[in-house]
Amino acid sequence: MQRVLDGKNILITGASSGIGRSTAIEFARTCPNNLKLILTARRLDRLHELKNRIQNEAGHGVKVCVKELDVSKKEQIDSFFENLDEEFKDVDVLVNNAGFMSGVERPPDVPSDVITSVYATNVMGVIHMTQAVLQIFKKRPDGGKGDIIMLGSMAGREPYAGGSIYCSTKAAVRSFTESLRKELIATRIRVMTVDPGQVLTEFNDIRHRFDKEKADAVYAGCDPLTPEDIAEVIVFAAGRRENVVVADTLLYPSHQAGALDIHRRQ
Ligand SMILES: NC(=O)c1ccc[n+]([C@@H]2O[C@H](COP(=O)([O-])OP(=O)(O)OC[C@H]3O[C@@H](n4cnc5c(N)ncnc54)[C@H](OP(=O)(O)O)[C@@H]3O)[C@@H](O)[C@H]2O)c1
Repeated sequence: MQRVLDGKNILITGASSGIGRSTAIEFARTCPNNLKLILTARRLDRLHELKNRIQNEAGHGVKVCVKELDVSKKEQIDSFFENLDEEFKDVDVLVNNAGFMSGVERPPDVPSDVITSVYATNVMGVIHMTQAVLQIFKKRPDGGKGDIIMLGSMAGREPYAGGSIYCSTKAAVRSFTESLRKELIATRIRVMTVDPGQVLTEFNDIRHRFDKEKADAVYAGCDPLTPEDIAEVIVFAAGRRENVVVADTLLYPSHQAGALDIHRRQ
């Protein structure tokens, strides 16, 4: 795995928390001698803390570039790549991870600003980031080379009541991912998705607008996955030799077998 990842330049969106943060740490641990990481999100202070942590652990074999990026703002994506330092411009792997949901309202009661911002982040952000890296990937021989790893969700496969907005964003990403893989079949560009069930991150707090009681109720009697569990699979997928495409991965904790098929221990 270290050989495949050696020298790679990896861009992660939403690296300030949860799965994105753990993915950055896992890449650095797996390939500590020669790796570049571009860590992006809106909260720069968190990214700087993560950069320090990675460099304390891995040393300077891992070069880290920290950049503020709100993926819901296309103008920021448009200027992002040209403003990268020269040594980070040639991206090899994009982890399209940034995403969120706020609230559990059902139509017609979903606030319109929630619909707009969740779609702008989870769908448009993913599509615009993908378009941008493909410009880089497609300049390489054999029609192009590089990896795009989506953070899908079990919610994109199995829509549930109270999730119509979030589930539909992840279903859109799933459909986009599958089309894209077919569109790029004549290249060396790998398009992969990792689709988790319950993972314990800030996602759940944000979804419940920091109402601790409601957030805690979701995982009551459960033993959810950790962001590290997901990070390991992302790094595994990126670390396969170039002819292997880990196209699609669904990950549940052992007590979960579907959106609402959850066994709660008393
Ligand atoms: N947790 C779960 O149970 C679960 C299950 C399936 C799939 N997922 C998916 O996994 C991905 C990561 O979620 P997580 O669980 O790790 O949640 P998290 O801990 O809340 O992390 C979400 C990350 O996305 C970033 N983000 C949100 N909006 C953004 C924007 N407009 N521009 C740039 N970055 C933005 C946040 O950073 P800033 O706020 O600093 O920008 C944060 O780093 C999401 O796509 C989520 O849908 C999560």
